[in-house]
Amino acid sequence: MRIYVTEDYASMSRKAAAIIAAQVVSKPDSVLGLATGSTPIGAYKQLVEWHRQGDLSFNEVTTVNLDEYKGLPPTHDQSYRYFMNDNLFNHVDVCKDRTFVPDGLAADAEAECAAYDEKVKALGYADIQLLGIGHNGHIGFNEPDESFIVPTHVVDLTESTIKANARFFASADEVPRQALTMGIGVIMNAKRVLVVASGADKADAVYGMVKGPVRPGMPASILQLHPDVTVVVDKAAAAKL
Ligand code: GLP
Repeated sequence: MRIYVTEDYASMSRKAAAIIAAQVVSKPDSVLGLATGSTPIGAYKQLVEWHRQGDLSFNEVTTVNLDEYKGLPPTHDQSYRYFMNDNLFNHVDVCKDRTFVPDGLAADAEAECAAYDEKVKALGYADIQLLGIGHNGHIGFNEPDESFIVPTHVVDLTESTIKANARFFASADEVPRQALTMGIGVIMNAKRVLVVASGADKADAVYGMVKGPVRPGMPASILQLHPDVTVVVDKAAAAKL
């Protein structure tokens, strides 16, 4: 793992954006694995800025997102499809029909997961997969469990994740209880992985990811076994390393 510790959230965001931009510049038809959550927002803003300045084009890029809430339509402002449109896709020249997010409304969610796996595999997996990390070490929505779940699957969200994500909804009751998430196998098949984390409340999870034992109770720890992982964290999130 290559670890960059930055001064603050703004410099973490610029560094992560620079790594993604370098990928796109060196391979314009890259498959970008993208993430939601509050942490990558600054990096997306920077990418949009570089696009506006004419320095970066996404018109040959394909994107695959990690996850989606089960039951939320793309028009719901807390759906991850909405998030991606709002934070990135609507502001750059990406071709929307080459942006993929699991369909939270699929009548058969398990079949949607299997089809999503096939889609990402057919694309040759992500050239770079961006990840945030949950307080309990989840990546995508791969929650702590008794084993690492390899394929894309439907997951029951833990109370801690529901509580953490309640800030975006009117109340915790409105947070969906389930999600569709890329499995650990799909994430591990990405050619490169880029993890971003910010703030003291992520310090334990970052420690578990980088220095803890590899165990399914700390899903991000599996990344220790990936050959090309870059971690960009601010000082506060790196405090326990
Ligand atoms: C959500 C997402 C994850 C994200 C995590 C952390 O549950 N499914 O992909 O990494 O939360 O979010 P944040 O960056 O807002 O702390």
